[in-house]
Amino acid sequence: MKTYALEMEHITKEFPGVKALDAVSFQVQSGEIHALCGENGAGKSTLMKVLSGLYPAGTYDGTIKIDGEPKRFAAIKDAEQAGIAIIYQELALAKELTIGENIFLGREPRRGFGIDWDQLYYEARKWLEQVGLHFSPDTMVGALGIGQQQLVEIAKALSKDAKILILDEPTAALTESEVETLMGILRDLRRRGVTCIYISHKLNEVFALADSITVLRDGKSIATRPASELDENKIISLMVGRDLTELFPRVEHTPGEVVLELKNFTAYDPENPSKAVIRDISLNIRKGEIVGIAGLMGAGRTELATAIFGAWEGKKTGEMLVDGQSVHAKSTLDGIKHGIALVSEDRKRYGLVLDQSIKNNISLASLNRLSTSSVIDANEEIRQSNHYVKELLIKTPSIETAVGTLSGGNQQKVVLGKWLLTEPKLLILDEPTRGIDVGAKYEIYNLMNRLVAEGMAILMISSELPEVLGMSDRIYVMSEGAVTAEFDWRDATQENIMQAATGGR
Ligand SMILES: Nc1ncnc2c1ncn2[C@@H]1O[C@H](COP(=O)(O)OP(=O)(O)OP(=O)(O)O)[C@@H](O)[C@H]1O
Ligand SMILES: [Mg+2]
Repeated sequence: MKTYALEMEHITKEFPGVKALDAVSFQVQSGEIHALCGENGAGKSTLMKVLSGLYPAGTYDGTIKIDGEPKRFAAIKDAEQAGIAIIYQELALAKELTIGENIFLGREPRRGFGIDWDQLYYEARKWLEQVGLHFSPDTMVGALGIGQQQLVEIAKALSKDAKILILDEPTAALTESEVETLMGILRDLRRRGVTCIYISHKLNEVFALADSITVLRDGKSIATRPASELDENKIISLMVGRDLTELFPRVEHTPGEVVLELKNFTAYDPENPSKAVIRDISLNIRKGEIVGIAGLMGAGRTELATAIFGAWEGKKTGEMLVDGQSVHAKSTLDGIKHGIALVSEDRKRYGLVLDQSIKNNISLASLNRLSTSSVIDANEEIRQSNHYVKELLIKTPSIETAVGTLSGGNQQKVVLGKWLLTEPKLLILDEPTRGIDVGAKYEIYNLMNRLVAEGMAILMISSELPEVLGMSDRIYVMSEGAVTAEFDWRDATQENIMQAATGGR
């Protein structure tokens, strides 16, 4: 007989105006890696928040059983006691505390009346080693990159001796080698009998890891199958309810005049003004074309985007021309004024005001355009917000809904809507489809093609090589802050891009 580490039966969870989960049933066998797949807003994160006690018993209907025993969790700590640890989609570490303090927050080892710091840092170091993170445990979490913070979250979960470990899109911000490390850790945990629930939009990871797979659609459980019985196409059609034969809608673009030109553009580290983070870059982007920027994490791609947009705090040298005019964008307002928009990879930090409505977030960067003598045209604001909710397929009961209650992927779409409303000449997209499901990705690619056909220029930074290859007209490759190669899409391959990205190594 099969033993289930976890059974969730007929779980129903409603929010005002949304039935997030509709009688979902879901079983996970002991010691397996179980992937949970589904479109943005399908209910994956909500289901896991029910399981982890974030939504306590009484706020949902249905039954949770752990090892066959029915459980009612009144709070997160009850779920933790039952061996459940969750790593949320949105990182939840305290940036102003050290790594060690974060790992043991609320569970600090004690000596006498105080905290046993030696013990805390000794233990923390042990867990950091397990996840392959080579930082001293007294480093401030705020000084780490997103990927490194993710690994700290995993170290923290491991330190709680979890029997069921839940990872909600753990690799969205990790480098390739960090992803490899993580997969190694998860396989190792499986050998030690830990059960793992893994949520990801990256189907290649799902197949590399999962023993079995559950697909949710519109708050309902559609299927649970052994991974060996599924392939990417089958999952996609279970997820979106139809076949999706083509992943990248490539259309022929006709580039016009140059919109943006950089000449020997260099930007220096704000904290360390003698260190160039972007070195001597010369490039151009034309109207009506999509230019991709490829490179490994740390190659300076996000820094380049930030510096073009005007949000860079350090010194810049060289020249930047917009429509042939030399400009000095010193603030995001300058960027907007020059017709540049930046859709950032880190929506929490730069993109959104989470407790405000979709409408307010979408209009945030366009208040000037929406106002006459500093009074906002409320009807236009509503009209535009509804337009982008429809165009971007944002799943929400209304434009008055607070952005913080949307699913991760739908929040990302709001950021995109906000910047599209500024009607930029140059749209910079930094990891535009991170956390976005396959069906919605395809819609975003179509939208990019439409915008470019209308004359917009798009600069797309992406770590997903198939996306860069599938959508760009031209590709620049960066390595260590410099551009190391330029390709027409017809000449670009994974191999020659990777070679340029690693500096020919
Ligand atoms: N706190 C909340 N208040 C109101 N609605 C919510 C709340 N949390 C989630 N929802 C809604 O419930 C539905 C399911 O959201 P959920 O976050 O579970 O999706 P998801 O499958 O994790 O999607 P994604 O892949 O985008 O992360 C969505 O329609 C979302 O807007
Ligand atoms: Mg989610």
